[in-house]
Amino acid sequence: MRDADVPTAEFRGFDHPDPARTFIETREYPVVVKADGLAAGKGVIVCKTKQEALAAVERIMVKEEFGRTAGRQVVIEKRLDGEELSVLALVAGRTIIPLAPTQDHKRAFDNDEGPNTGGMGAYCPAPLGTPAILNEIEAHALVPTVHALKRKRTPFRGVLYAGVMVTNQGPRILEYNCRFGDPELQPVLMRLKTDLFELLLATAEDRLSEFEDKLEWDPRSAVCVVMASAGYPGNYPKGKLITGLEDAAQLPNVKVFHAGTKLDGGHVMTDGGRVLGVTALGETLAEAKKNAYDAVAKINFAGAHYRRDIADKALKGMTKHE
Ligand code: GLY
Repeated sequence: MRDADVPTAEFRGFDHPDPARTFIETREYPVVVKADGLAAGKGVIVCKTKQEALAAVERIMVKEEFGRTAGRQVVIEKRLDGEELSVLALVAGRTIIPLAPTQDHKRAFDNDEGPNTGGMGAYCPAPLGTPAILNEIEAHALVPTVHALKRKRTPFRGVLYAGVMVTNQGPRILEYNCRFGDPELQPVLMRLKTDLFELLLATAEDRLSEFEDKLEWDPRSAVCVVMASAGYPGNYPKGKLITGLEDAAQLPNVKVFHAGTKLDGGHVMTDGGRVLGVTALGETLAEAKKNAYDAVAKINFAGAHYRRDIADKALKGMTKHE
């Protein structure tokens, strides 16, 4: 991001805990500590105090809670205030096609409380992603990033997923992933009418320009509620019987995406932290939310945990940047 001059938080990388601790001690602002490696979406620790930040360095680098590789380096950055937005874009050559904007819900519990997770629910389109904000993200983040990668002779083709914080000063990029977002993609796919296979094939074959301004969307809203195992994102049990999937499948405009499940003797069992992405369309965001939770109510497994406030930020008009 620095190379491409993309607006992001002030940050520094460390490969030893001592200078990381000194950096934290000398900051005048709250920080976020990130394990510099794959950590199943859990390697970002948003800290309120210096003590929390020091503990995060301990967990990542000393105790290596997120694994050896992810524990070798940390990135410590200034904590930004605002609302998060996920923008997933398809990229091939010069063509960049952002998909409809979504909002994830990273914390485990309602009202954005509890630890960070891989994502507990999402909705699409996110009103926070106004055309003006999306244009800014494209012009100041996606375009310069794609150009910088090309200049480095590592041209990018695939999904560029920008994790954005929409601050009072404008959008800031928190992170990039080169994959789709989970659960963000579920509500996106409920609405995307263009053939996903053709779209991905065109991306892979560098023909994405054929789809420029041609994506077709269902105008309705979609909401995805993640049903997780008890204890997630910490330790959780597996092998719990899931019931009610057939009942949920009977509901119109509902699709249940399987994540941490497995088939065992004809029964569907839990087999991961995030188990199901229960997703529904509705004429309005409120109706999509209701439809998704009606489907969730049909499904059961021991210890099932889910947030009850997915999409509420938009519904309660808490979106500050419309
Ligand atoms: N939901 C966040 C992610 O896919 O990284």
